[in-house]
Amino acid sequence: MERLQKMIANSGICSRRKAEQLIKDGRVKVNGIVISELGVKVDGKDKIEVDDIAISNQGKVYYLLNKPRGVISSASDEKGRKTVVDLIQTEMRIYPIGRLDYDTTGVLLLTNDGEFANIIMHPQYQIDKVYIAKIRGIIKGDAINQLKKGVIIDNKKVRATRVKLKKIDMKTNTSIVEITIHEGHNHQVKKMFACVGFEVLKLKRERVGIFDLTGLRSGEYRKLTTKEVQIVYSNKKSNTKV
Ligand code: URA
Repeated sequence: MERLQKMIANSGICSRRKAEQLIKDGRVKVNGIVISELGVKVDGKDKIEVDDIAISNQGKVYYLLNKPRGVISSASDEKGRKTVVDLIQTEMRIYPIGRLDYDTTGVLLLTNDGEFANIIMHPQYQIDKVYIAKIRGIIKGDAINQLKKGVIIDNKKVRATRVKLKKIDMKTNTSIVEITIHEGHNHQVKKMFACVGFEVLKLKRERVGIFDLTGLRSGEYRKLTTKEVQIVYSNKKSNTKV
């Protein structure tokens, strides 16, 4: 919780002293109600308006989470199960950028910045999403080539930009494959492997663009640095035709 005048000042529209004056002048509303006395505290979920115009009280925030298994990738769950947002301590209304399945682990970004989320997700910006998949069976060159050439899932053609066989284990009859994609369709990696005849037993996202799991154990998270956010935005510029 923050003092109302501080929240207004933090939005960048004026100084804290000016914000106090705006409140005293009856020009500030919180959740539709005029607040004309100092001392009221608010949080990131309250709607604050000055002269009936909402301030962008939600400063933009960005997190990188090492998603554990057994957590839902959405902002809320109707069955009350734990979500990735529950793992992050913030007053801000954040949401995950794309989805990882309940049983998938690894890199997940969360934010309240829609433009940033779009750059990460939209295939146009060609941001790598790199997965390590443990699959049942021994994969061969033909299946790997097919993943690179493209397969049809849910009536859409999708392809891996890179596929690397990391390991095969004849004893357990499994293969470990690194696969890179640019899209983020529902269950895309599992469906792609299913198309070439393999079941994914375990899936971990190792990297999204410049973001990997360095220093983060399962369930841990950190804020992105300003520099990292700038790099993502500059990627947008370099991928937008003018
Ligand atoms: N592809 C999948 O199949 N599952 C995920 O969680 C992410 C990508």
